[in-house]
Amino acid sequence: MAKKNKKQTRDAEVEPELNTKNGENDDSHNKKKLKKKRMRKKIPTVSIAVPASIIDNVPTLELATRLAGQIARAATIFRINEVVVFDNKSNPDNDSVLDNVGDESGAAFLMRILQYLETPQYLRKALFPMHNSLRFVGLLPPLDAPHHLRKHEWFPYREGVTVKERDSNSGATLVDVGLVKNVIVDQIFEPGRRVTVAMGTDRNLDSDLPRQVISSSKPREEGTYWGYQVRYAHNISAVFKDCAYKRGYDFIIGTSEHGQIIKSSDLEIPSFRHLLIAFGGLAGLEESIEEDDNLKGKKAQDAFNLYLNTCPHQGSRTIRTEEAIFISLQYFQEPISRAFQC
Ligand SMILES: C[S@@+](CC[C@H](N)C(=O)[O-])C[C@H]1O[C@@H](n2cnc3c(N)ncnc32)[C@H](O)[C@@H]1O
Repeated sequence: MAKKNKKQTRDAEVEPELNTKNGENDDSHNKKKLKKKRMRKKIPTVSIAVPASIIDNVPTLELATRLAGQIARAATIFRINEVVVFDNKSNPDNDSVLDNVGDESGAAFLMRILQYLETPQYLRKALFPMHNSLRFVGLLPPLDAPHHLRKHEWFPYREGVTVKERDSNSGATLVDVGLVKNVIVDQIFEPGRRVTVAMGTDRNLDSDLPRQVISSSKPREEGTYWGYQVRYAHNISAVFKDCAYKRGYDFIIGTSEHGQIIKSSDLEIPSFRHLLIAFGGLAGLEESIEEDDNLKGKKAQDAFNLYLNTCPHQGSRTIRTEEAIFISLQYFQEPISRAFQC
């Protein structure tokens, strides 16, 4: 899929560990860090899990591209922080989904389109080599997310791609952040790596003032939606188990027409750090759970903290996954914000 030296996706937002350096000042150093960490506002994350099989059931590349585009739009509209694409495999085949060449699996395809659309337009040429799967992406409406900045726009943060070391032994790297000139950051990075740059207050691009590479979670912690991460899971239990957040998901919701019916205004979600909302494929989450050896004997209702029907009284016999994502994310908006009012 991707060339190995290019880093198309951002590093997962892992919660930082405290430094445990040796020496006399460690204690006060760690105390300060602890205090700072406690003071830092805990911004919750919302993840969605989407089955790769929805792509396998689409007859043409163009329709598959449009479907992937709808999921990317839904994720962005509802400020989703992570999209997990899952298969129904009982055995992991060493994550080869990421390295497929030529005709690729539904999962590889869906991840590629999601990642491509999430990437600011000015970085795509550098980060995404030409690929047959990208043939129809030009037809898709853009995500127009806050980090998809235009050349004339100034924002405290910008996504960029590292270009090259400024000059030998300078200890600095040039980064293309989509402005008329590359900026300098005071660290060495290999070329072709996606980074988030704190732009500082100096708008003069001719000045040599180095800027900082920061965690991609920083803008989000300050309240700006900064796109989503994309992760692969070989089955539904790996969605839960291989969570990229250090402490895992603390509340997991499954969606189904067989789920419990609760009015959105009555739904109570406990305050959470990392929420996951899972969607099923043609045969629903029930099938994903039945086919998963790690969940043998479990009923769908038991695999989730809540198993919900978010669209009761449906007029069509089936609600498609991509439709259910929009319907459900709208349904969850108020309960999620209520979870943080108390
Ligand atoms: C084609 S449906 C699968 C139909 C299946 N009978 C089911 O479990 O809902 C695909 C996915 O859309 C979502 N979905 C469909 N109808 C829903 C509903 N009324 N409430 C919540 N989610 C629904 C679920 O995630 C489901 O797995």
